[in-house]
Amino acid sequence: MLNFIIDTVYQAGNLLKQYYNSELTIQTKSTDRDLVTQADLDSEKILVSAIEKQFPTHAILAEEGGQMGNADYLWLIDPLDGTTNFAHGHPMFCISVGLVYRGETCLAVILDPLRNELFVAEKDKGARLNEKPIMVSQTKSLNTAVVATGFPYDRATNPHNNLKEFGTIMPLVQGIRRGGSAALDLAYVASGRLDGYWEFHLKPWDVAAGVLIVREAGGCVTYPDGSPWQWNRDSLVAGNVDIHQQIVTHIIDN
Ligand code: IPD
Ligand code: CA
Ligand code: CA
Repeated sequence: MLNFIIDTVYQAGNLLKQYYNSELTIQTKSTDRDLVTQADLDSEKILVSAIEKQFPTHAILAEEGGQMGNADYLWLIDPLDGTTNFAHGHPMFCISVGLVYRGETCLAVILDPLRNELFVAEKDKGARLNEKPIMVSQTKSLNTAVVATGFPYDRATNPHNNLKEFGTIMPLVQGIRRGGSAALDLAYVASGRLDGYWEFHLKPWDVAAGVLIVREAGGCVTYPDGSPWQWNRDSLVAGNVDIHQQIVTHIIDN
């Protein structure tokens, strides 16, 4: 399954590279900030049709096409994570695919096609970047940490838009980033490029793969109140064990 999905994700990545910086058809979805391009749709087509052909009994939950089937194996697909970046020619975007078996993510692949960086994790077998093992950082305290976050598409109308939490944590850290790709934010936590990350109101396809990669890299992921995160929960805090704990504490006390 791993070799199959890596091959397929590279095919979708090549397509995104062809579309990148070209004239794109862009439409909006839930709000006028929530974009979908022809690249999202065509990338998803590659991923979904390959999985349907290879594993006809598996279920799929894909961002643009929704749920297809019901089965013990469920593929969670974000065909282009970071669409706003992509549509503006900003290079922070990726493809994210996670495989959930009976509610537990067992396989995760995130490809940054422009940098040719492939993050992979298999349950209990560790996490790798381009085949080399990766580990979360060892930063101990927020004042020497670089962390990332994000803001939901409905932030203009949703009072729970992360501004309060951002305002609390921003003065405490060495640096804070808003990368625009939840999957890459998690992959960067896993590889020690970021020390922590939190975000609210995400979707399963944004984070299923990234969460397994962080955990397999020795990091910690929970719901923002510290309770266990599962693939269908919409908000999370991730980080090395120390930074994760400090972010959770500040969010709870907020
Ligand atoms: C979005 C990105 C962004 C996050 C949003 C996601 P999309 O995914 O991951 O960083 O803040 O919540 O929806 O729409 O580019 O696939
Ligand atoms: Ca996404
Ligand atoms: Ca997407």
